[in-house]
Amino acid sequence: MANIVASVNVSHVPAIGAAWDNGKKNDPYWQPVFDGFDFSKKWIAELKPDVIILVYNDHASAFDATIIPTFALGCAPEFPPADEGWGPRPVPTVIGHPVMASHIAQSVILDEFDLTIINRMDVDHGLTVPLTLMFGQPAEWPCRIIPLAVNVVQFPPPTGNRCWNLGKALRRAVESYPEDLRVVIFGTGGMSHQLQGPRAGLINKEWDQQFLDSLAADGQTARAIPFIEYVRETGSEGIEMVMWLIARGALDDKVREVYRFYHVPCSNTALGHLILENASFSK
Ligand code: DHB
Ligand code: FE
Repeated sequence: MANIVASVNVSHVPAIGAAWDNGKKNDPYWQPVFDGFDFSKKWIAELKPDVIILVYNDHASAFDATIIPTFALGCAPEFPPADEGWGPRPVPTVIGHPVMASHIAQSVILDEFDLTIINRMDVDHGLTVPLTLMFGQPAEWPCRIIPLAVNVVQFPPPTGNRCWNLGKALRRAVESYPEDLRVVIFGTGGMSHQLQGPRAGLINKEWDQQFLDSLAADGQTARAIPFIEYVRETGSEGIEMVMWLIARGALDDKVREVYRFYHVPCSNTALGHLILENASFSK
């Protein structure tokens, strides 16, 4: 059977993609950011996942205001990089896994989660920047990727608790897939950031650390955080962190913290990164 063995949580700041694509990765501003992923690149190269379920949010690239699905599962064979205004990023097309994604859709919907099935979708920085951070610049991404887009752009976003429960439903879906596949789930976005208005640039290091601590423990404190606390404490875009709870919900209650990285500033945000392995998993 297929198995979710670990989660990778990581911010998806678009300026990271621009820095990488424009050859600025060794600039003094960007080098500490990319250095923070040296361990992670080695870890994932050794782990060799067959499939990544990549939880992210679209930033009005694939879905504009006409359609705003709360949870949208990418079931297409491939997902091209989106043109976000400067042309598509020069990164490989994402190769999906339509058979497994359709199985997940069936399992999760019959488990009473209302997923939108997406058979054509361009993927923006929310999905491509985490891949760049974890894999650098290969000719092809090293495994199949199933995108799961979550609405955190237009109020109301899903609650953290619903995200957690979706993680559990995803796990049941993966574990009922008959092929032996090693699956890693990515939760992207965050950490504290507010991009507009008088509070633009807001960073709350203490709150971010408490969130990381909770995920590295059993996640129960993080799971109960209400929408308004994210907005008040971490800025309006800090709400992206609910996506980390989908990834955490998909793991065992007990996990091993493999790696943590937290860096300020990164564009307008605090960059956060946490790798967790299931306690039940041994390589
Ligand atoms: C920015 C945009 C994002 O979507 C994000 O998650 C972080 C930062 C930005 O424009 O700086
Ligand atoms: Fe974002």
